[in-house]
Amino acid sequence: MEKFVISGGKPLRGEVEISGAKNAAVAIIPATLLVEGECILENIPDIKDVNLMFDMLEALGAKVERLSSTSVKIDATKLDTYIAKKELASRMRASYYFIGALLGRFRKANVALPGGCNFGIRPIDQHQKGFEAMKCKVEIKNGCVEVEGENLQAANVYFDIVSVGATINVMLAAVLAPGTTILENAAKEPHIVDVANFLNSMGASIKGAGTDTIKIKGVEKLHGGSYEVIPDQIEAGTYMFAAAATRGNVLIKNVVTKHLEAITSKFEEMGVEIQEGDGEIRVNAENAELSKIKVKTLPYPGFPTDLQPPMVALLTTVKGTSIVTESVWDSRFQYVGELQKFGANITVNGRVAVVEGNMENLSCAEVRATDLRAGAAMLIVALATKGESTVSNIIYIDRGYANIEQKLTKLGADIKRIDD
Ligand code: EPU
Repeated sequence: MEKFVISGGKPLRGEVEISGAKNAAVAIIPATLLVEGECILENIPDIKDVNLMFDMLEALGAKVERLSSTSVKIDATKLDTYIAKKELASRMRASYYFIGALLGRFRKANVALPGGCNFGIRPIDQHQKGFEAMKCKVEIKNGCVEVEGENLQAANVYFDIVSVGATINVMLAAVLAPGTTILENAAKEPHIVDVANFLNSMGASIKGAGTDTIKIKGVEKLHGGSYEVIPDQIEAGTYMFAAAATRGNVLIKNVVTKHLEAITSKFEEMGVEIQEGDGEIRVNAENAELSKIKVKTLPYPGFPTDLQPPMVALLTTVKGTSIVTESVWDSRFQYVGELQKFGANITVNGRVAVVEGNMENLSCAEVRATDLRAGAAMLIVALATKGESTVSNIIYIDRGYANIEQKLTKLGADIKRIDD
């Protein structure tokens, strides 16, 4: 088991290049199942979740050829089965995208119930609602989602809650379904737009992605082509938080600044200096006296839930009482016990965390990543805190952050990956 050993207390300085978006890539890769011909995907992040997706494609019979660490050629013209490999599917949350993609392709799908980060109940009832509206029969049998969609057809779907996964999954099923599917109360995250742009570039007809109403006119088939995945909003945000927590000065490159507005506006409120350029953002917190804040997570364009743990990490270094409300997931503060090991004063009551921050109360600690973004939060506190800390269970961090120790080392961090 690997762990990170961090000698913290040094401001991060320099430049960091952001990789392609994990949550776009893990949807676009299964979406290639709908394409006849070769797809070349560029700016794919080199992370564990993406590699698992490739394994799933290959297990279905698709050809996957890595062209470089960030590009891949996929040909799913010939597939052997509509049944996704159970051991692989059950290992990650995003495997649920194989349901929509296989359904579109074969009019049936069999995919194990998704695994992935655990922070409360993660139902898929809204995905099911969408497929059923499209005249499919959905059953859960032996831990697998089985969908029969012989009569798959367009439908109007009104989602009861805003769900990234359900929006993309039903979009995937609708691309090759006869008629026009209308998704209302759809999620608006940048990766939803990216998946729609990918599908459109391969011949689909999707309008309205990025708004709460998406219209998908079914087409006969999709053709091959090349597509470049957008930069990762959450990875970029994570480095912004690491820069601020260490009171550093970092230029974050290869970003879409618009996607980061919820973070930059909070940073400005706290007194972190932000300079936006073309595809880059400078975060300067050198010698800054940051102020406490209140923040609430919301679906895009609100403050992203995936940056809630990094925000709490930053707030442990900021004097005063800050309040963080989680409104997307039921129990996404489970990691707080680990941050307390650094001496952080955080109390959680349901979906609200009260952080009594003070850099001087923090001291190095041995902690264990409890999920991907919680792992990132622990790294941030370790980087900000003087002394040698260890973060174990980093398999979670590797699921979503490409070359993290190389990127942090380039910023002046003292971080080593150790095999225990
Ligand atoms: N929900 C339902 N029913 C459903 C689907 C979702 O009640 O059928 C609820 C969830 O329980 C949650 C809320 O709706 O309370 C939002 O869930 P959503 O479906 O939007 O989440 P997801 O698609 O499973 C994606 C990201 C998560 C990110 C959320 C919210 C991927 C692969 N995962 O999950 O990212 O937290 O959207 O933005 O895209 C991460 O990257 O670390 C991560 C966990």
